[in-house]
Amino acid sequence: MTEPTRLDALVAEFAPTLRGLLGEGRRLPRIAFTADETAAAGPHDVTLDAASLDDPAGAALRVAGLLTASESADRIVVPGAGAFVADRFVPEGRVGGRVALVTGAAQGFGLAIAEGLVAQGAFVVLADLNTALAEANAERLASDHGEGRAIAIPMDVTDEASVAAGVSAILHRFGGLDIVVSNAGVLRAASVTTQPLADFDLVTRVNYRGYFLVTKHTAPVLARQHRANPAWWGDIIEINSKSGLQGSSRNSAYAGSKFGGIGLTQSFALELVGDGIKVNAVCPGNFLDGPLWSDPQNGLFVQYLRERKVPGATTVEDVRHAYEAKVPMGRGCDPADVLEAILYLVAQQYETGQALPVTGGQVMLS
Ligand SMILES: NC(=O)c1ccc[n+]([C@@H]2O[C@H](COP(=O)([O-])OP(=O)(O)OC[C@H]3O[C@@H](n4cnc5c(N)ncnc54)[C@H](O)[C@@H]3O)[C@@H](O)[C@H]2O)c1
Repeated sequence: MTEPTRLDALVAEFAPTLRGLLGEGRRLPRIAFTADETAAAGPHDVTLDAASLDDPAGAALRVAGLLTASESADRIVVPGAGAFVADRFVPEGRVGGRVALVTGAAQGFGLAIAEGLVAQGAFVVLADLNTALAEANAERLASDHGEGRAIAIPMDVTDEASVAAGVSAILHRFGGLDIVVSNAGVLRAASVTTQPLADFDLVTRVNYRGYFLVTKHTAPVLARQHRANPAWWGDIIEINSKSGLQGSSRNSAYAGSKFGGIGLTQSFALELVGDGIKVNAVCPGNFLDGPLWSDPQNGLFVQYLRERKVPGATTVEDVRHAYEAKVPMGRGCDPADVLEAILYLVAQQYETGQALPVTGGQVMLS
């Protein structure tokens, strides 16, 4: 991993601290860093001295006292490097003004979660391996909801350098984070007796190690904001699965990675509660209309037909009906169901370390 520059280190500590200090209750402004020292110069400019580089948190404290609480953008100039620009605009919505990272957001649940959060007033970062698709979707969201409301960044959640670089890019663009949705996940279904080790490792790396890495690199950002503003709490939410609550035949790599995700959720929650971070998991049932199930080449309907996971099924439709019949509510899980669970977890102020089923009654907690 490349070492962060002095400027990266300043951005990483100064911006989240200033966000926290300037926040009103649970609403924090966004603090963008621009290399253009002259951009948006205004009456509220403050200049950082060289000593600030050695004590970014102290500098943030001094600056917060100088900035007015006006609606206009405030600038903090870093001579020779650029400027921080604070933006206090709060769009309407249940998560208005929050900054959200959604991993695996190019398609499927992740994209739908990103769309739903933008529609509810958030500024959303779509992070994915599939950069081209994430970018196209972020551009569409920004054109529908306003410039800057959605951006895409490349991220491989299994690669620590990639996750660290992505979080640094978010800090330069928004100055911090309010909601982290660890959604990127893959599934390779097979019998334990025949599954290639490479497939088992891939599932474990994305679903389990990926959640660890995303939490490792975002939790310090959330903690800084809480330290500066104890009234503010952040959220880390893993998109887990009903297979994290109940074993899944011929799908052990996936279920194991998701059971592990619940263990991480509970442990992260215990560790990070003192940093003002709630950590919870959402456990959706099957999103039967999404690409994971319906992709005609590699979707689960096709995989399960091939694997003979549903006795007697001879077509993809047979497999689908068998899965719908398992749900008391008679249908697959929709992205809107998952979004509602996320909005609840963010809004509530007295729950952490939980795994919230969204399964139409298919899996019930005991
Ligand atoms: N689809 C379902 O029925 C279902 C049910 C329960 C839980 N889930 C969970 O929801 C999450 C999303 O699933 P989905 O159905 O939308 O999947 P999907 O395959 O449609 O989308 C997954 C996205 O993650 C991205 N991705 C894969 N590996 C990555 C990596 N290493 N780094 C960054 N991005 C990566 C892909 O490019 C893709 O855009 C997963 O965690 C999955 O386990 C899905």
